[in-house]
Amino acid sequence: MALDLHAHLLWNIDDGPASESESIEMIRRLMALGFTGAAPSPHGDSDPTLARARLDELRAALQRADIDFELFDNTENALTPELVADLCAGRGRMLAKTRFFLVELPFHGPLPALGNILERLSQKGLNAIVAHPERSAHFAASPFAAASVVHRFGGLLQLDLGSLVGVYGTTAERTARALLKGGHYDLAASDLHRPSDCRWLAHALDELDALVGPATARRLIDFTPRRIVRGDPPV
Ligand SMILES: [Fe+2]
Repeated sequence: MALDLHAHLLWNIDDGPASESESIEMIRRLMALGFTGAAPSPHGDSDPTLARARLDELRAALQRADIDFELFDNTENALTPELVADLCAGRGRMLAKTRFFLVELPFHGPLPALGNILERLSQKGLNAIVAHPERSAHFAASPFAAASVVHRFGGLLQLDLGSLVGVYGTTAERTARALLKGGHYDLAASDLHRPSDCRWLAHALDELDALVGPATARRLIDFTPRRIVRGDPPV
């Protein structure tokens, strides 16, 4: 079993699927790979009212098709001053209505203020799940130091499974493998955008198993994601 906490599964809301049928096809493919649920994560610049409505529409579509697949609230927030202000004011778009929020870092440039930002949010009882750190230049430059800053302030690190099989290039793959080998990831997710992405997902899951063994792979794709949607910290 597995639970996917980063996937673009809502149609016509961001750069994800273009139709209800594409959304359903992606979910069927996820289920064939052992996923029993997901937290669809539209980008943070999507309209929150529309995102909520689309999640309800997807739940209804699954029910009509007699597909048993659990869905949770989520957003892939971008790290901006506005996001920090919204989170501090209690207006954050949280994961499964918990204290966790999914956030992607800028892809380019160093982020010297990251520790200060996460510390400020952790003082408010909020925990960042950093999406695909391996794809940011900040982590590529010094993966272990960057990871320890995130963990020091209650943050978690989410591996994009595609990074393991070269979907995002050689630097992201090298950084992902180093972070994985060092035991720095807390969870792994698909970050699917379209049905064709499912072609590499099976290979990526096999690669994860081969690199860390089935027990750790299970922790990353199932055990920890399930704790997170319950609002519990990872073990
Ligand atoms: Fe994403």
